[in-house]
Amino acid sequence: LARGPALFRPERENSRGFDLTHRPTLAAIDAARMPFRSQRWQAGPLVAAEAEAGAAVPVANPADPSDIVGEVTRATAATVAAAAGAAQVWDTPAATRAEVLTKAADLYEAHYGELFALLHREAGKTQMDAVAELREAVDFLRYYAARSADKGAAQAAPQGIFACISPWNFPLAIFTGQIAAALAAGNGVLAKPAEQTSLIAWRAVQLLHEAGVPASALQLLPGEGDVGAALTSTPVVAGVAFTGSTETAQIIHRSIAEHLAPGTPFIAETGGLNAMIVDSTALPEQAVRAVVESAFQSAGQRCSALRCLYLQEDIAPHVTEMLIGAMEALTLGQPWDLATDVGPVIDAEAREAIAAYVAAARAEGRVIAEREVPAEGHFIGPAILKVNGIAEMEREIFGPVLHLATFKADELDSVIDAINETGYGLTFGLQTRIDDRVQYVTERVEAGNIYVNRNQIGAIVGSQPFGGEGLSGTGPKAGGPLYCDRFRRHAHAGPVG
Ligand code: NAD
Ligand code: ALA
Repeated sequence: LARGPALFRPERENSRGFDLTHRPTLAAIDAARMPFRSQRWQAGPLVAAEAEAGAAVPVANPADPSDIVGEVTRATAATVAAAAGAAQVWDTPAATRAEVLTKAADLYEAHYGELFALLHREAGKTQMDAVAELREAVDFLRYYAARSADKGAAQAAPQGIFACISPWNFPLAIFTGQIAAALAAGNGVLAKPAEQTSLIAWRAVQLLHEAGVPASALQLLPGEGDVGAALTSTPVVAGVAFTGSTETAQIIHRSIAEHLAPGTPFIAETGGLNAMIVDSTALPEQAVRAVVESAFQSAGQRCSALRCLYLQEDIAPHVTEMLIGAMEALTLGQPWDLATDVGPVIDAEAREAIAAYVAAARAEGRVIAEREVPAEGHFIGPAILKVNGIAEMEREIFGPVLHLATFKADELDSVIDAINETGYGLTFGLQTRIDDRVQYVTERVEAGNIYVNRNQIGAIVGSQPFGGEGLSGTGPKAGGPLYCDRFRRHAHAGPVG
């Protein structure tokens, strides 16, 4: 054992991020991202062999569709086949892999101005979200690098070639996290980013290559769902890491069963119908802040976001009034502006689907409050809709739409039952000042991540692994040690998973 202070020194520290209340820091961020204010990135497949590619498609800023952020050349079935043929595991000592991934983390931090610009202009992320996103990506790289030194990791072998398929809502953090875990274990990776956010994925892969990840161990295949489908039916694929909707996970599950080897590991992190219960002992100011952050930050486009709020009947009028006031105070606008709290949703299709959902609720007289939105861009005004309970919600509405229900003091158990009966189990929030109730409720609610007397979004790599159960995911949780194990094959035990 190390002695003295070394005993307490962490093996690895999470990224420090940026203090957005510090004026000189804000000025430095502004200076670093300004050269990328009107840059047009040209991205495409990054494949370690001659490969035919498909059409180039323009990428527009969701907050200002007249701002063309770049062009992406998409992969085709032929590109996927060429990449699969060129794919190799990363056959180098674990310590070297850890060093390279740690260097990639440093490169991400060094390029923060460009990455922030891409997060604002391609993904519609506000400055606060962009800081959190870069931090999480960097933390994943350093954390999974450190995990290669775990007991048993050195004796384990990689699974082989992993397909990593990611969503647009954490286009840097989740994209990087899947890849970093696979690479840290020595796998080769075929990465398929979401079609909405290929530019930042392409830039991230360039930085990983620059850090020393071999081109054959990490290849990028931008494109739509057909590219993901081609990957999950390519026999060279020995494992699939997927984050996205529950529906797509179910399609991939069937494809793996049909096309890939029996026992192929499949990690799926999917959607949620997340609830929060606020009882009559909760601190109203704390609860309102937690609700507004959980429901409306990132324009509600987090898998963890609060979808259904249960307020105990006797405090409901007062808390609802405070909630409407706090929602009115949010600044909606361009993600590039530092004052913006809520940016756009990802694209016109998402805006239209969410707007139609809110319009239907309006026609039924169920809108409690909603905000006007800027005329240009794919904005949806934060809205609060009345429901009788979570059972009325048939699916995840992936935007800034909060559903509000009330419950009587003797209905706590039936509220918990209704939450569990959705079949989802991602996040859950509780606001109460009764200690016994914390224990009672958190033991009964089936959710992967439970948050008490705070907001219910976000997770800290290494100390707060994130992931759901039931329809919300297969586990193991990202950012935790068990996650890494799924990417390894242990000689004595056969494939893990
Ligand atoms: P999506 O399922 O539409 O797409 C995710 C990825 O799958 C994209 O890259 C897409 O191109 C690809 N894809 C689509 N069809 C495919 C197919 N047939 N075969 C293989 N790949 C295919 O999801 P999205 O809209 O990008 O992301 C939002 C969803 O992700 C929400 O449901 C959200 O809750 C979920 N999500 C979950 C977590 C989590 O940790 N649990 C985190 C972030 C997002
Ligand atoms: N960890 C991510 C969030 O909290 C998925 O929203």
